[in-house]
Order: sequence, then C-alpha cells, then structure tokens
Amino acid sequence: MSEQSAAPHSAQPVQRKILVTGALPYANGPLHMGHLVEYIQTDIWSRFQKMRGHQCTFVCADDAHGTAISLHAEKLGITPEESVARINKERIADFSSFHVAFDNYHSTHSEENRELSSAVYLALKENGHIASRTITQAFDPEKKMFLADRYIKGECPKCGAKDQYGDNCEVCSATYSPTDLKNPYSTMSGATPIDKESEHFFFKLSHFDAFLKEWTRSGTIKEEIANKLAEWLDSGLQDWDISRDAPYFGFEIPGESGKYFYVWLDAPIGYMAAFKNLCDRTEGLDFDEYWKKDSPCEVHHFIGKDIVNFHCLFWPAMLHGTGYRTPTTVSVHGYLTVNGEKMSKSRGTFITARTFLDHLDPEYLRYYYAAKLSSRVDDLDLNTADLIQRVNSDLVGKVVNIASRNAGFIAKRFDNQLSGTDCAPELSKAFMEASGTIAQCYEEREFGKAMREIMALADKANAWIDEVKPWTVAKEEGKDQELHDICSTGINLFRLLMIYLKPVLPAMTEKVADFLNVESLNWADSQHLLFNHGINKFKPLMTRVEQAKVDAMMDDAKKLLESMNTNAAPATCQQEVPVKEDHAIVSDVKKSTLEEPIADTIEFGDFARVDLRIAKIVNAEHVEGADKLLRLTLDVGEENTRNVFSGIKAAYSPEALIGKHTVMVANLAPRKMKFGMSEGMVLAAGPGGADLWILEPHEGAIPGMRVI
Ligand code: 2FM
Ligand code: ZN
Repeated sequence: MSEQSAAPHSAQPVQRKILVTGALPYANGPLHMGHLVEYIQTDIWSRFQKMRGHQCTFVCADDAHGTAISLHAEKLGITPEESVARINKERIADFSSFHVAFDNYHSTHSEENRELSSAVYLALKENGHIASRTITQAFDPEKKMFLADRYIKGECPKCGAKDQYGDNCEVCSATYSPTDLKNPYSTMSGATPIDKESEHFFFKLSHFDAFLKEWTRSGTIKEEIANKLAEWLDSGLQDWDISRDAPYFGFEIPGESGKYFYVWLDAPIGYMAAFKNLCDRTEGLDFDEYWKKDSPCEVHHFIGKDIVNFHCLFWPAMLHGTGYRTPTTVSVHGYLTVNGEKMSKSRGTFITARTFLDHLDPEYLRYYYAAKLSSRVDDLDLNTADLIQRVNSDLVGKVVNIASRNAGFIAKRFDNQLSGTDCAPELSKAFMEASGTIAQCYEEREFGKAMREIMALADKANAWIDEVKPWTVAKEEGKDQELHDICSTGINLFRLLMIYLKPVLPAMTEKVADFLNVESLNWADSQHLLFNHGINKFKPLMTRVEQAKVDAMMDDAKKLLESMNTNAAPATCQQEVPVKEDHAIVSDVKKSTLEEPIADTIEFGDFARVDLRIAKIVNAEHVEGADKLLRLTLDVGEENTRNVFSGIKAAYSPEALIGKHTVMVANLAPRKMKFGMSEGMVLAAGPGGADLWILEPHEGAIPGMRVI
C-alpha cells in the first residue's frame, strides 16, 4: 500500500481506490454490542481512509437467507421478506445512530445478488468445479423438510440426559455424532426424523489447494490466522456442500428445480451485490474496475474469528475459480465479553444497540472500542467501569478540557479571535509530526495504539497549560498579548487532537468544526495552524459518563431479556450458537478451532500500561458465602488502601497473609462483584487451588513502590 511506505510528511499520497466491507449480519434479531465491535472498527478504518483523501467505499448488507431467518419470521407470524424488511429498517437506524456510515447498506435478498450468485455458480460449473451426488440426511416427516444437526435433539447415548443436541452432552460432556442420539426428535415439530436421500451440489474446494496455500501466505491475512488455516489445508480440503432442498429461503439454483443455494454461498457474493447496487447509481464508481482479475483497486473484508474459513478458504477459491480478483486483506477480530462474561441473554449481558442508545452517547462506545482494539484476533471486554473511567479521564478530562480551559478567555477577552502567534512552537511541531505515526496506527488497525499516542499528546498539552497558567496571566496587567497567544495555541493544539480523533468521534468533530469555524478537519489539515482566525462560541462537546445511566442501561438489558423470553423472538448473538446458520451439512472443514482464543504476544507499550505496585496486606478476612475468595485490604502507599477480592482462600488463611508485602495490578478497572467492589488484583503463581503462592517481594520494597 502506497501510504505505509510514504514518508510521514510527504504531500498528498497517491489516491487509492478502496472497497471496505463488514460481515453481513443475519437478519434475525437486533444489533448488539458484539456486532458493533466489527462495524465500529470498520467504520473507523473507512473514515480514516476518506479523511486521507482516498476513494473509499464502505458497504454492507443484511444476510437474509437460510433456515434461521425463515424460522424467525415464522415465529413472528410474517413472511421472511416482511421480517427481513422490518429488520433492515431497524438496522439502518441503529447503524446511523452509532455513526456507522455505510455508503450502501443492501440485502442479500436482492436482484443484484441473485444475478451475481447465479453467474458465479454457472462459471464455477463451467470451469469444472461443481460436482453432484446423492447424500442421506435426517428429514422431518411432518414439516417435510431436511434437518440440519442443530434442529435435532435427543437423549445422550452415554448418560441418558434428555434434550441434548447432536454433538455433545451438556450434562456429562460426552461428544458423539447426531446419529448416536437416542430417541431423536425434530425441534421443529417433535417428530422422529427419518433418513432420506437427496441430490446435493458441491464446490470442489480441493481444486484450489495449491492456490489457497499460497494465498493464505501472501500477506492477505495475519500469520496467526494463516497458521490456523494450515491445519485444514494440511489435512486435505473436502468438497463443500452448497445446496439445500426446498423449502428454503434463498435463491433457486439455475437449472435445478427445488434446489437452493446454501446461505453461505450467496452471503459473501452479497458484498459484490451491495457494491454493484451502489455502482449502478453512482457516477465514476465502476464495478468491473474493482472486481476484475488483477485489479489495482483494494478490497478489504472485516470479519469475526468464527467465520474465517468462509472468508479465507471458500470465498477466495470461489472468486479465483470464477475469474474475479481476490480480497486484498481479511482482517479478523475476536469476540466481545461484557463485564468479563460471555455475552448472553441469560446473564443479562446481552445489550442491544438500542438499549445502549437509550441511555448513553454512542461516541462513548466508539472511543472505548477504539482504545481497546488492535490488529490482533484478541477478544475484547466491554467493562462498564473501565468505559466510564476511560471516557471521563481521556475525552472529557484531557481532550475537551484543553478547549474549555482556553475558549472562555478567547471569547471574553478577544472577541473570539485567535491570535497570530504560536507561543509553543516546539509543542505544535511535535503535534504535527505525530501525524505520521498516528496515521500508520490507523492504517494498520492498531487503534488502541493510536488512542494512546493521541492521549500522550493531550497530556503534553495539559502539562504545558499548567505550566503557562493562563488563569494567572489573565489577572496580570499588560499581559493581554501573552494571554491571547497562550489560549490561541491551546485551541490550536486541541484542533490537532480532534483531527486525529475524527475517525473515532465523527459527531464530536463536527461540533468542533462549528466551534472552530472551519470547513474541514481532514488529515492534511493537521499540517498547519489557525492564525488570526475568528471562531465561534464554545458549546459543551461531551458530558461525563454517569454511573447511574450505565446502571440504568444494564437494568434495561435485563428487562429486555425478560420481554424477549416472553415474546419468544430470539436475538442473534455472535457467541450463542443456536441462532447461527448451520455451517454445513457434510463436514466441510473441521469445526473452527479458531473459536479458541489464539495465544498472544503483547507489545511493550501494552505491558507498560500495567501499573504494578508493591502493596502491604493490612487485613485479610473470609467473605461470607464465597468459597474461594478472601477480602484483602491493601496498603498501596500514601495512606491509600484498596479493597481486593482474591481467589486464594484454598492456599492461605487470612492470618497467614496479614502483614505480608505483595505485588498488585494497581490500574485494573474496578470490578463490581457479588460481594462488593474489587479494586485491583494481587499477583500469585501456581496451578491454582491450594497450590498458589502470592508474589512476595524482597524486603526493602515498600507500599506504593512501582514494580519496574
Ligand atoms: O456469521 C454471520 O453473522 C454471517 N451472517 C456473516 C456473513 S458475512 C458474508 F460472507 F456475507
Ligand atoms: Zn450425557
């Protein structure tokens, strides 16, 4: 990519033509916090590219086909088309409230997608990559439809537990195949499934073995993903079943009556269809230019780690086998947890986009996710205490504070005019020079690093203001010019920070552009300052996050769960398998081992953010009702104490701990536990249980000392 190698301050880089996609969400439930990890991440990247002056197009669509979608509609008593249209409308409203700015949001149930899917299939067939054969499957004789494994339950063949799914027992953890279930029944009708034969169509994935081995190692995907895919590639690729029998909500396969494309065949083609729909009504946007073989344009997909095989094996093979270009990159993110728990309706951690919007500013979430995102496949925790702390301390306490500390003087004393002198040229230079590093972080999807760079600049600006003390200068006779220059410089530094934050905080940046009375805050604008320029009245840009509003949101999330349970309308959830579309009938690839967290290394900067301190255990006591926890009171120096719940009860009696020195993580976000707030973590080593030893520093280390 041209820019990454460009010198940080080079003039306008070559304009790139970039198509960006977020995975197409299933049209069977509300958008939730898990979805938003991906769309906010992708939107930040796309906005960044646009700010740089590139021609960037961001498309997405509802993934409208498959059994999960038609069952959802059936439960609501409406047709799949009606249900999909209803969800599409809600989605578009939710996305726009979160400032996710698609250039087009389409649907896979569209004419463009029907035509493209048929054309891809026919080209693959023509090129000898489609085979057909008869397979035997479970069939519901009452519903008159074939059943994917997840619609069959029965008794565990090992322990006899009732109502178990066909792959493992939730009671005794035995694993088995669906045909081993005793007294199986269809979850759709309760009928006993019978075996039935049917002709299916297969994509010969093995024809692309050599191509995929090379493609997965060509810089399109991260090495950790390529290594996972190598497990499948090395064990031999199997044919992929791309057809489903009627009744099925999808596109009928050309020339094959009663046979439909499996949803995962036409879903990724939906990326092309969404783009085509936009091209057809946009001057200068040419579908073929982007999708032709060896196109110089870029195509970037953003996806979750559970759908890597579809995007990094089947999809590039389909494109290659049809004669289209393949993606430039596929960026993979991890799952979301909420307050350390898997996102789930039963735990009350299932927060929909709407529930969040009912209580909180969407830009809180955008900033929080940005601060925690990296280019790696790590899972991300939405910790509400941490969100409050980060937004209040970084955005309100550091960034907005710079503007509010200076804007009042500019208004009252200088009629809203900025002066003609930069009185901190070294600092301004450092701010402008940071543009290259910050841009590189955005480009590489290291958003957390970008936010840290920006906040380090904000710290510098605040430290400078503390040093030059405009509030003192304001009281001194004959220092008007000095005050004017200081406050104008402060506003200029604030302006540069907002340019760098614009991809993350588009709404706040718009308010800032009004305040600064400027036409644009694009990346190139970071290379000059505003002198002798009239600005507008300062209005509040962002309010502090209030704990009460966060609590109200969490309460609503729990209430929504109750109403969902009574209405029996399931919501999609990334991590909750039952509402996901079946991945295949014939085992196409081994079930994704990518669902396990991928072992990780961290950058030095990540490590440096952990504030390790010496603490003295001044009290330790049992916690009523807790099997594993002790409540510790830690002296962390300067007369501060912390309350920490620690799972070391099996290893230590409270008396044995009192008076010991140990090491704690002092900047861990406070965590509300059943027994109270835990304000840090004590470090210990060992396999767990009774075999655990807290770290005890050598004498000489005193409470509050930093561990370096
Ligand atoms: O896993 C999912 O949520 C799918 N609906 C994603 C589809 S992405 C693309 F291939 F359409
Ligand atoms: Zn069992």
